Amino acid sequence: MTLEAEIQDFLTNVGNNHQIFKYLYNTTPDTFVPFETPVYYSGPYWDNKEIIAMMKAILEGKWITSGEMVHKFEAQFSKKFKLNHSVMVNSGSSANLALIGAVKKYLEWQDGDEIILSVVGFPTTLAPLLQNNLKPVFIDIELDSLNFDLELIEEKITPKTKAIFLSPVLGNPPNMDRLLEICKKHSIELLLDNCDSLGSTWRGKYLNEYAIASSTSFYPAHHISTGEGGMVSSNIKEIIKIARSLAWWGRACDCVGATNLLPCGGCGKRFDHWLPDYDGVVDHRYVFTNIGYNLKPLDFQGAIGSVQLEKFEEIEQRRIQSKKRLQGILEEYVEGIKVPNELPEATTCWFGTPIVCPDSESKRSLVEYFEKNKIQTRNYFAGNILLQPAYKHLENAENYPNANVVLDRVFFIGAAPHYHEQIFEYIQERLKARFESQKTNKVLNLSC
Ligand SMILES: Cc1ncc(COP(=O)(O)O)c(C=O)c1O
Repeated sequence: MTLEAEIQDFLTNVGNNHQIFKYLYNTTPDTFVPFETPVYYSGPYWDNKEIIAMMKAILEGKWITSGEMVHKFEAQFSKKFKLNHSVMVNSGSSANLALIGAVKKYLEWQDGDEIILSVVGFPTTLAPLLQNNLKPVFIDIELDSLNFDLELIEEKITPKTKAIFLSPVLGNPPNMDRLLEICKKHSIELLLDNCDSLGSTWRGKYLNEYAIASSTSFYPAHHISTGEGGMVSSNIKEIIKIARSLAWWGRACDCVGATNLLPCGGCGKRFDHWLPDYDGVVDHRYVFTNIGYNLKPLDFQGAIGSVQLEKFEEIEQRRIQSKKRLQGILEEYVEGIKVPNELPEATTCWFGTPIVCPDSESKRSLVEYFEKNKIQTRNYFAGNILLQPAYKHLENAENYPNANVVLDRVFFIGAAPHYHEQIFEYIQERLKARFESQKTNKVLNLSC
């Protein structure tokens, strides 16, 4: 019996004897109980294959920390998303940190150089700029798409501007033609926080293909998940070499996977005169060229990632369908809301289904209704990030009027790959019931 078959047997036994893995599998049509089973906004789209790969990597692997499985996943990920090089790290936030540090060093940006980004988003898109002594320059959003308003960018470009850091809202790209035109006109780079937009395309090309470097998150809510995890990718080898060094304590040696076990290292001269100010021979593994961190993932996370990649098309299609179905239901039964659409040139691999309410009271009551019915909702992350205690010293939040309405009027529900007919019917029935009771109340109010 192979190890894989034995693990499968073990899982079947455990599964038969105990109520486990409900969260991993999320809900299936037979286990969904209306009003009782939570409708999570997302979750890992895993089955036994991920668990088997994980257990095999632990039982058979040579490494616990980043090793062969992680390296294999890096190569598969690069190939899948048409990139030349990737390094896996322990989160999307770490990916942004390593990405910014690596691009800053590679392009010789100076402290105080300026990076343009949306004032609404996830905090660890912004934090690595500050952690790398770069100056964030904020752009207000447009309420139609919730993305930053491209027409406000050029007035903020100065001689110190080095890049635009794009993070498409819930996966939905802005007009990339216009964005790339701005970058080209002003000779600035495009960086991509792709944590919410893995798989989204513009004119048939992945968004990451347009950027000098991009990051991904494998947190459970994201398109593919390794529990925690992230990736930095680029077509420029040196950027990934620096990112890997930053993630691996700052060391110079970039032996990965099986080369890690070679006595003389991948370069064949592991023991050499590596230090300019020291005559002796030193082991390359202990030469430090960057002020680094330890952002390494575990090897079994790489094994899970490889299985998840095989499901990518299925996940993508299911996310697209979930958003479409929920948008139809929302537009039929909730008055006054807007669900943003993608532009005709884009295919969005939705992270969630965004909802823009006409006012704060309608958001409050809709969120309350969803949550009461066990349908998870989420804020669009930090809202105007300048309202947050950690960042309010940067600038006056009032300068960004559209961003200021996000906490009041915007939220999202899932576009999750595990949603099935029973879930859609449940959400439809709940929203229809609310709609009809609102109609009745209106009639009653009018008749009083
Ligand atoms: C746009 C964006 N960037 C970065 C991150 C951080 O990813 P992680 O949770 O893996 O650190 C997230 C997290 O959800 C995100 O949505």
